Order: sequence, then C-alpha cells, then structure tokens
Amino acid sequence: HQAQVTIDPAFRVGPVRRRTFGAFIEHLGRCVYTGVHEPGHPAAGEDGLRQDVLALTRELGVSTVRYPGGNFVSGYRWEDGIGPVAERPRRRDLAWHTTETNEFGVDEFMRWCRRAEVEPMMAVNLGTRGIEEALDLLEYCNHPSGTALSDLRIANGAKDPHDIRMWCLGNEMDGPWQLGHRPAREYGRLAAATGRAMRMADPGLELVACGSSGTGMPTFGAWEATVLEETYDVVDLISAHAYYEEKDGDLGGFLACAADMEHYIDTVVATADHVGARLRSRKKIDISFDEWNVWYMSRSMAAGPPEGWPVAPPLLEDHYHLADAVAVGSMLITLLRHTDRVAAASLAQLVNVIAPIMTEPGGRAWRQTTFHPFAQASRYAAGEVLRLAAVSPVYETAAYGEVPLLHAVATHSAEGTTLFAVNRATDRPLVLDIDARALGDVRIVEAVTLADDDFYAANTADDPDRIAPRANPDVRHDPARVVLPPVSWNVIRLG
Ligand code: AHR
Repeated sequence: HQAQVTIDPAFRVGPVRRRTFGAFIEHLGRCVYTGVHEPGHPAAGEDGLRQDVLALTRELGVSTVRYPGGNFVSGYRWEDGIGPVAERPRRRDLAWHTTETNEFGVDEFMRWCRRAEVEPMMAVNLGTRGIEEALDLLEYCNHPSGTALSDLRIANGAKDPHDIRMWCLGNEMDGPWQLGHRPAREYGRLAAATGRAMRMADPGLELVACGSSGTGMPTFGAWEATVLEETYDVVDLISAHAYYEEKDGDLGGFLACAADMEHYIDTVVATADHVGARLRSRKKIDISFDEWNVWYMSRSMAAGPPEGWPVAPPLLEDHYHLADAVAVGSMLITLLRHTDRVAAASLAQLVNVIAPIMTEPGGRAWRQTTFHPFAQASRYAAGEVLRLAAVSPVYETAAYGEVPLLHAVATHSAEGTTLFAVNRATDRPLVLDIDARALGDVRIVEAVTLADDDFYAANTADDPDRIAPRANPDVRHDPARVVLPPVSWNVIRLG
C-alpha cells in the first residue's frame, strides 16, 4: 500500500489544547482503592497515595482528571468522603454493586491532583440529588473561608480553596442504567437551574452539560438538541462518551472505530450550532469528550454485577493488546483533528479500570499498551493542529463503509512538527511519502512506531515492555518516506 501526506503550516485547525489529554478517576473497582490510594503499600506515602502510580500519571502526561464518576456520582453523597476517615460511613454503591468505604474523598482527590500535577474536573450528582448539594460542594471546595462549609474544609486540613474550574452537571443522564435517569427536557431544566445557581456563586466556572452516552443511544441527537435548548446560555460544553471494542473477529472494522468518533463530533457540533442559530445566539458550545477508550463492554456485561457488595473488587480490568493501542492512537488523532470544537477530553479511565496504568494490590504497577500512544501524543503534540492533505487507499468496513487505511494528523510549533499516523491495514505495511516542502528545510528527526507481528500481544506485570515504542528502521530522507508497519501507531518528528 502507498499513501501520501502534505504538511503545510497554513492548514491550521486550531491550537493544541492541553485539556485534550485528560483522564478519569471513578470510584469503581480498583481505580481508587489499590489504584491511586493504598495505605500500607510500600510505594505509598503517609497520605496513602501510591507514588508509583503518581509517577506513571505524570509520565503519561495527563492534564485534567474527571472525578468521582461516572455512574458512581449519580448516587454519591460527597459529604461522606470528608472529615476524619474513621468516622466516614460505608455505603452501598448501586451503580457497581459494591461497598464504598469513603476512605478517599474530595480532599484526598485534590491532594492527589496536586501531586500528580493535574487539573481537577468535578462532577456533581444530578441523579439522586440536585441544586442544594451541588452548591454545598462548590462552597466546600471553592469558597475561601468564613462560611460553614469553607470553614469545615479548613478544619479538615485544606486551608486554601481547591479552586475547581470545570464542573460536570451530572453523568450520562440519558442512560436508563443511570440512577435518576430522566427525559432530556427534565434533565436540561435541572442542569440549567443547577448551573445558574452555581454561576451565582462563581460566574467564572466552566460547566459541562450531559450529552449522549454514545451514538448508539436511541435519543442520540434529539437529546443534545433538547438539553441545549434548556442550557445553552448556562453551559460552555456538552459531553460526549464513546467506547469501542473488536466484535466478531472483525479487526479491520475495529481499527476504523475513530470513523464513528469523527461522525459523533461532527453531529454534535452541527446540533449545537443549530440550537444556537434557533436561539439567535453568537455563543458556541464546545465538546467535552469526557469518556473515550477501548472497552470490552460485552465481557463486562456478561460477567454481571459482583456478588455480596464487595469493597473495591477487580471490575472492568481490560488487558489491552497492540491493536487496542492503535485504536486508541486513532481516537487521539480524531480528538486533535477536531481541536477547533473539542475543548476537553478524558481517557476513561486512569488506573486498573479500562486503564492505561495497571497495579497489583500490594505489588507492581505497569504500563498497558494504550499508555504509549497517549503519552507520546501528550508529549509531542504542541502549537497548532494542522489538517493534512492526505491520499490513502481505502478499505471496506461493515460498520462504517469505506475508511482510509491511513489516519493521521500533524501539529506544528516553533520547536518542530510532529506527524501522528496510524496504519489500519492488517495485511501489509503502508509506504508513506511525506511532502513537507511548505515547512522549509526540515528532515525527519525521529520516527517511532508501536507495532508487533502479534497484533494481540499485551503487556503484563512480568513482561511490562512487550509492547513499547521502538525506532522505525524503515525511514528514507529526501524525499521523506516512512514505512508504517501493519496495525501500527507512529510518531514522526520533523525539524
Ligand atoms: O467508565 C465506565 C462507565 O462508563 C462510567 O461510569 C459511565 O459514565 C460510562 O457508562
């Protein structure tokens, strides 16, 4: 196969936004307990936070972290997670059929954020709760002092306000599985009233309304339109969530999943702009793609909920192989390609639960295959995102029709230009010619590839570097050409 890209700094889409590289910590399975928090672990400090996981989070290049859910937030009482740990109540978490000990709450999360050098993104419960509890949490977190809840935070050891800027108004309220799920109009009114009240306390907050849980939802499109009719003036962003998995051995179809993500973004942007037009508004609503990943959901669903309300059982612990990492890379390319309207995104999730970082309770931590495309994109995407003029062979997929074998984007800054490229072909390499004449006198500085003869090879605690980026030996300079192995994620730096 043969493909060609032309890179021109004039083909500007918009700035690379650090918030594209967000992640997500939910009270789910072992994400919090034995993931980020494990008192007594040899790598844990006095605060119980695992330093090995903190180090990997920093290496991953995570910018924001959404918390505390997910489905969990729709039944959560945030007050349970503050104050002396020994006095915190144990409660059932109806979303995941487990027992929540509340040993970790908002103050521990904020301490973790500071150590991880990430920005928090807080979700409020609009499932079982409403305006008052959202305002209380906001006062506890952000008010400096001199009120009941801000003084309580100070008494609990957090002298300075947490100063959380981004707030999600609930989670997946379109989903029948969600506690407090309700029709779009009802949710939209609740979200608008909650958002307005929160803005009375702090007009500068950035608010996210719940969009659909995926393009497959029966209300997809109509949900966004109705919710935005109610919330347009109040919110800044609307959420999007998407998970993909290989089904029925259709690897080619799976590797094309970002085609759905592209369509998803285009559709939500069109819907939001249509609502804006009808409201005669000049304001634009952007997308917070605050859950995205590969998730073998069919396996999780087949396993059913855990028996006996356990504490932090292993749940949704997908072990990712090379092809999963290539799909993740393709989704990162999609988010970057839409940087003009995707203002934030969160890989779901960060540790153990459908995550790039895995841990053993009491033991090791390691990088899954999916860690690598995320870490590289976060590290090397800088400056402006450039749309490419690309010529690529196509292939036929059952789910998305004709899809190009090459999926790529570039970013450009004074430090250099980076091309991120996926070869979706399963049968052979893709010879990629790079026309970078518009960049002036540049050459390939480095070409790194994530590839393997075994598309289903994964990393384990015993073999943590089985799949890792390696130098691509197949590079030609002048004119620039790189051979992309089949099923591969590639980072090509020019300078
Ligand atoms: O990330 C796992 C779950 O997926 C989240 O709790 C929920 O929001 C989504 O359905």
